[in-house]
Amino acid sequence: MDANQILFGVYPYIALSVLVIGSIVRFDREPYTWRSGSSQLLRRRQLVLGSNLFHVGMLAIFGGHFVGLLTPVWVWDALHVAHSAKQMLAMVAGGLAGLMALAGGALLLHRRLFDVRIRRNSSFGDTAIIIILMAQLVLGLSTIPVSFQHRDGTEMLKFMNWAQGVFTFRPQVADYVADTQFVFKAHLTLGMTILLVFPFTRLIHMLSAPVWYLNRRGWQLVRTKRALPRKPERLAPVYPAVAAASAEAGRLEAAE
Ligand code: HEM
Repeated sequence: MDANQILFGVYPYIALSVLVIGSIVRFDREPYTWRSGSSQLLRRRQLVLGSNLFHVGMLAIFGGHFVGLLTPVWVWDALHVAHSAKQMLAMVAGGLAGLMALAGGALLLHRRLFDVRIRRNSSFGDTAIIIILMAQLVLGLSTIPVSFQHRDGTEMLKFMNWAQGVFTFRPQVADYVADTQFVFKAHLTLGMTILLVFPFTRLIHMLSAPVWYLNRRGWQLVRTKRALPRKPERLAPVYPAVAAASAEAGRLEAAE
């Protein structure tokens, strides 16, 4: 088996398996660590600008990659979207989003490396993952001049066939990308490595953020001055100790 087969025929399955199994195991064993580990209390202004630029850019890239790589070719054809138009969209919209994420990421990385308090509060993984993402952004942006020479979208088709072939277990899937340029191969390889390390880093918050941050269902310890709910049985399944205290408070109140 040659290097191309190992990198693009075997490695995708290793990365995806570690991503899925690692995330499930982490959720099961360490639910309290399933978060981004916010440093919002420290140096807030640079965080807000950097974080907004970074997250908007990254979400656009994530959506663009997901739809662009995994939508079957016949769907684009049925919608009469020419391959050349799709290639142009990937370069222009992806390029702008990439530059945005790069600028935001630079602010975040500067803050993490040069603010002593934030550096002391950062794990190795916190710093490593932002450096890896920046490297991936630089590699992704470096593909644009190469793609520009293939504006008919033929190169892009190879990547779509490869990505979709991985998910449909197509034999010899690595052949699709065998003759593509080095910069694409480096980008694909680092991309799979990001999936591989995903469960062991703060990237894990991508899975919970949409569900738990938006309607505030995380693990949060709150000492409230408000009266406890009148219906402790509602709390029982989630917070048995609080429900018991609430029931006891109700009993005492009734006895008075
Ligand atoms: C397994 C994961 C990934 C795969 C398979 C992948 C694949 C690709 C491909 C095939 C292209 C070229 C698109 C074209 O013009 O034909 C590309 C471009 C690009 N990628 Fe990725 N990528 C991955 C992850 C990432 C990540 C995590 C980032 C950001 C940190 C990123 C940032 C970019 C950027 C900025 C471009 C250039 C703009 C564009 O064409 O959309 N990629 N990627």
